[in-house]
Amino acid sequence: SATPDCATPHSPAPDDATPHSATALPAFPPGFLWGASASAFQTEGAADTDGKGPSGWDAFSAEPGRIKDGADASRGTGFHERYREDVALLAGLGAGAFRFSISWPRVIPGGSGPVNPAGLAFYDRLVDELCEHGITPAPTLYHWDTPLPLEEAGGWLNRDTAERFADYAAVVAERLADRVPMWITVNEPAEVTMLGYALGEHAPGRRLLFDALPAAHHQLLAHGLAVRALRAAGAGNIGLAVSHSPVHPFSDGEEDRSAAELYDTLTNRLFSDPLLTGRYPDGFDGLMPGPVADDLAVISERLDWYGVNYYHPMLVGAPAADALETYAGLGMPAELPFGLREMKGMERTRFGWPVVPDGLRELLVGLRARYGDRLPPVHITENGCSYDGLDDRSRIAFLDGHLRALHRAVEEGVDVRGYFVWSLTDNIEWAEGATQRFGLVHVDYDTLERTPKASYAWYRDVIRAQRAAK
Ligand code: NOJ
Repeated sequence: SATPDCATPHSPAPDDATPHSATALPAFPPGFLWGASASAFQTEGAADTDGKGPSGWDAFSAEPGRIKDGADASRGTGFHERYREDVALLAGLGAGAFRFSISWPRVIPGGSGPVNPAGLAFYDRLVDELCEHGITPAPTLYHWDTPLPLEEAGGWLNRDTAERFADYAAVVAERLADRVPMWITVNEPAEVTMLGYALGEHAPGRRLLFDALPAAHHQLLAHGLAVRALRAAGAGNIGLAVSHSPVHPFSDGEEDRSAAELYDTLTNRLFSDPLLTGRYPDGFDGLMPGPVADDLAVISERLDWYGVNYYHPMLVGAPAADALETYAGLGMPAELPFGLREMKGMERTRFGWPVVPDGLRELLVGLRARYGDRLPPVHITENGCSYDGLDDRSRIAFLDGHLRALHRAVEEGVDVRGYFVWSLTDNIEWAEGATQRFGLVHVDYDTLERTPKASYAWYRDVIRAQRAAK
């Protein structure tokens, strides 16, 4: 198959008036990919335009009380209408790549069965628009918007969802593989499992605690089946986006250490181990639906690269009365064998998340130490923060710190190939609604008007300076 490549970098004008000078960052390796990320549910709106079917998130977010600020998530940022404007913003950044997601129910409204030509045509136009601006399209096939009929049939608790996902992956690849040079199968299966099926804060709102584990297995299986389907349809350069957080024990005490270890296993290793070694951590095979050994061979299908989403580390101890009841959007029921603790004395984002740039270096060096050469080249598929305001110096400081930490990881031997800021524009932050603003570009949710923030100019200058350093 032809190697698709439609990226020719732009050279926007310089702007050097920021406290964390964009030109002072150390140089990243030649060919490093500078990008931005987004997802369909969080931006597209147009929930029933042109034959799109409903997703689990469409249904969940329409239920009163599910979205904390009561925001109407259904308009997103109007991306479906305004994608050209956002591609122009990406071009103005000089972005090398855009990680967006394809809405499964826009392409296959029922989750299985007939393809919606108008839905597929939207992504066709988006990909063309990106290519015309020299920006590599990097679509994610699943960023949490399961088609409602599949959700109602059990969603990721149901093995069939994984099979249907592979069919959908093939449909998309057949249409787009000629122009799409980089693919992401699934996004953050750990968060879907935990927030969606174990704790019930995200769609589908199930509160199954440890009985949610099959949802993890079936998402991993879906990933592996999709890798095969994508390759069979001529697509290459395939990865996925896995969230990773360093986990630290609240104290040196035995109970806190074993609680932290269990949390690390459940949120990190339960995903990276099967993907990179073909095995679940000890004791988990028996908790997963089978045939586990056969499935693990699919799940560990060779990856071209490994995507890491990083936001902050976790401090975890044994359950305790003064453990955080909610933290980072996670409600932690008392019946769980761990409790999340507050990292004291840290700067925090608007979300309350601690700002710990070195956690990014720590987790990458940790992955490299654990998996050695089994860890393929890495892309940071998401990193960013929520802050208010157009003069978002805190975001600039956050990104500056994380890029420096990322560079240290490179110096320490981790093969990192790219970095995608979360997010290009403000967008709907799931159950948090419109209040957590992660964008380089501000969105007015009344008018849907876009206004670049200070961080946009800063990131543009970073990209420009990094290219010039080559
Ligand atoms: C991870 C998710 O992939 C993304 O959708 C979300 O907005 C960010 N983290 C920030 O929470």
